[in-house]
Amino acid sequence: MIFYFSGCGNSRHVAETLAAGLNDTLIFIPEAAREGRYEYELAEGERLGFVFPVYSWAPPKLVIDFIEKLKVKVGPSTLRQAQGPQGSGTLNYLYFACTCGDNCGHTERVFRKAVEEKSWSLSACFSVQMPETYIGMAGFKLDTSKNAQLKINRSDDMLTRYIPRLINKEHFSEMVVGSLAWLKTYLVNPGFNRSATDDSKYYVTEACIHCGKCVEVCPLKNITLEEGCPKWNGNCTMCMACYHHCPVNAIQYGKATVGKGQYYFGKKG
Ligand SMILES: Cc1cc2nc3c(=O)[nH]c(=O)nc-3n(C[C@H](O)[C@H](O)[C@H](O)COP(=O)(O)O)c2cc1C
Ligand code: SF4
Ligand code: SF4
Repeated sequence: MIFYFSGCGNSRHVAETLAAGLNDTLIFIPEAAREGRYEYELAEGERLGFVFPVYSWAPPKLVIDFIEKLKVKVGPSTLRQAQGPQGSGTLNYLYFACTCGDNCGHTERVFRKAVEEKSWSLSACFSVQMPETYIGMAGFKLDTSKNAQLKINRSDDMLTRYIPRLINKEHFSEMVVGSLAWLKTYLVNPGFNRSATDDSKYYVTEACIHCGKCVEVCPLKNITLEEGCPKWNGNCTMCMACYHHCPVNAIQYGKATVGKGQYYFGKKG
């Protein structure tokens, strides 16, 4: 079973590739959370996977919040009770794959802490670099289309190599941590999480053709159309999917996004 989150399609692509290679089922975290589906059953020996983008050098808060509430039953008993001497009902392989534009800071430590608080232990994790999606601040820009394609090709090769390792339940950690990781994850990230729900800087220009694509693509269902134009309703995770997916680039985020172009994995008009 694979739980995943994706704003702009990169992590969805990774999750779908892993699910196909591992013959696993996929569960979209925002949908499950919206519907209050927090209880799942795994067969004895089944792998539990998570796939998500790195947001400000940590897992997105909504992923950590979901894990906190998640209850997984393995075989005959729940994981919380699963430390029995026979090991019956024990979760035996837990992994995550994260996508990032560049590097992940201490994403692994934050994730590990979240699962260890549930008495689960992390068996494997890896990061794959995918095209950048964050352009909500001065100085952040998208990859060139050539570079974006190179990253996608390279990540597909990496996944081809990771799938057999996950099938074999190998224990490993292969993360691109990057520089100043402690500072980024433990000082910058909390500030990002406090402001990430603030969608008040989003606005729409006169170019809007009232197609409703932004409503459709928002993973949190945070956008409604009012007189044909998007209205943001304060439950945002700053994934930027609405911005990137608008067919006429009519959405902007303050001045930061102006003229920076769009990217959305496998974008369809
Ligand atoms: C709000 C936000 C924060 C991000 N923070 C980071 C980061 O800390 N490090 C990094 O390398 N990439 C960062 N990125 C880039 C994404 O992790 C990367 O593009 C990812 O593949 C997007 O996945 P998605 O298409 O599934 O949403 C960020 C993107 C967004 C939208
Ligand atoms: S996706 Fe763009 S054009 Fe379509 S309704 Fe939203 S803002 Fe308007
Ligand atoms: S409003 Fe836009 S940025 Fe916020 S969660 Fe929805 S799609 Fe993502």
